[in-house]
Amino acid sequence: MPITIVVGTQWGDEGKGKIIDNLSKQFDMVVRYQGGNNAGHTVVIGNDTFKLHLIPSGIFYKNVMCIIGNGVVIDPAVLIEEMETLQAKGYDCANLRISGQAHVILPYHKALDKAQEEKREAGRIGTTSRGIGPCYVDKYNRRGIRMADLFNEKLFREKLEWNIAEKKFQIENFYRMPTNFNENEIFTEYLGYAHAIRKLVVDDSSVMVNDAAKAKKNILMEGAQGTMLDVDHGTYPYVTSSNPIAGGACTGAGIGPTAVSEVIGVVKAYVTRVGGGPFPTEISGPIGDLLREKGREYGATTGRPRRCGWFDGVVMRHAARVNGLTSLAITKIDVLDNLDRLNICTAYEIEGKKIKDFPADLTKLEKCIPVYEEFPGWKEPLANAKDYKDLPKNAKIYLDRLSEIADAKVSLISTGAERGQIIKL
Ligand code: GDP
Ligand code: IMO
Ligand code: MG
Repeated sequence: MPITIVVGTQWGDEGKGKIIDNLSKQFDMVVRYQGGNNAGHTVVIGNDTFKLHLIPSGIFYKNVMCIIGNGVVIDPAVLIEEMETLQAKGYDCANLRISGQAHVILPYHKALDKAQEEKREAGRIGTTSRGIGPCYVDKYNRRGIRMADLFNEKLFREKLEWNIAEKKFQIENFYRMPTNFNENEIFTEYLGYAHAIRKLVVDDSSVMVNDAAKAKKNILMEGAQGTMLDVDHGTYPYVTSSNPIAGGACTGAGIGPTAVSEVIGVVKAYVTRVGGGPFPTEISGPIGDLLREKGREYGATTGRPRRCGWFDGVVMRHAARVNGLTSLAITKIDVLDNLDRLNICTAYEIEGKKIKDFPADLTKLEKCIPVYEEFPGWKEPLANAKDYKDLPKNAKIYLDRLSEIADAKVSLISTGAERGQIIKL
């Protein structure tokens, strides 16, 4: 088989954590391949709700090796706190490994993220202000500090010194904001983090992943964010600074595309977005509010209310294309239970012309009006459905249409936040 990639198909928060937790028991390894603690992946186990920001959602299974890959950016304080939360609940994290090649988020990245957002000329992105973008900038500018560097005190000190000098100058002189980076304090603080996780850091995690693939182990790649937040294929510049799409798993974990056999797209039965940027099917008013309340659509990382909208088939088609989806995991169908009628956007209209491909140019996108197909609601709770055949006819019609638009079969349907609430097809 051996490698399956799980990606978000919308603007993130599709329910990837729930789906990956469900799939993990059939896998030997789960690898996070991009993003950082901008992500919040929720896993509900009985009375416990875990919001994972960095640790792969396979961590609840002791025999599943969980890897934070080279493509991830790591805030070590957040990582350690997350490990402690899990350990307090009996998940010891002995099955966690961290790539030495993953880049480290430092205090100046967070300060720069905030400064840029405050002064952004073209309108705020509404980032999570976790320093993600500036950390990736340093990576690509080849001045970043990697996890392995924290174990080489001389090199770490040297890199820290240049970086602090550069960011201090930039923030104070360009953004005109005060800074108070204390090099000695940061140095000591980060050495402390390195010491705490020393045993988990490996030189090159791609060796572990490829050895496992050779041994015919089953490997799951965990994407963060979603296709429309992809820096290349999303609604640029209102995106994150990495590649959540399936291709990102190759670079972010160090695997070849020939090793990948399946790409599962996680699809929310409606659409949400947190932060700024275009959202053609956004609903304001009572239906939007109903989706937000019933779906508990508040950011798992920042707590911000998520914007809600009708299912967008143009986005779905775009995601199916750029990810090469082989199947869909549809989530939160239960949130639509009470609606009399539902809309699915199947195309956009721009200056009287119908288009079916998502426009890359945001000035075009701004002019797009969604074209909707209307569907009758099912008006009964789906939360306890155990089998596809138990679903009401109207729910099946709705789900079939999503699958038809994506041109991919449905493999899972999630009907609630809890572990058992899932239908396998
Ligand atoms: P992720 O970032 O893609 O992992 O998604 P989040 O965890 O940020 O957001 C998904 C939210 O929906 C979480 O609160 C989940 O507990 C919840 N959730 C996941 N699947 C379902 C579902 O099928 N139905 C309902 N009602 N909630 C779900
Ligand atoms: P998961 O993995 C939803 C959004 C932010 C902002 C934009 C850029 O839980 O699906 P960043 O801090 O990354 O520079 O912010 O991306 N964003 C997310 N939205 N879910 C996420 O992750 C997100 N991670 C980033 O709100 O609009
Ligand atoms: Mg999330």
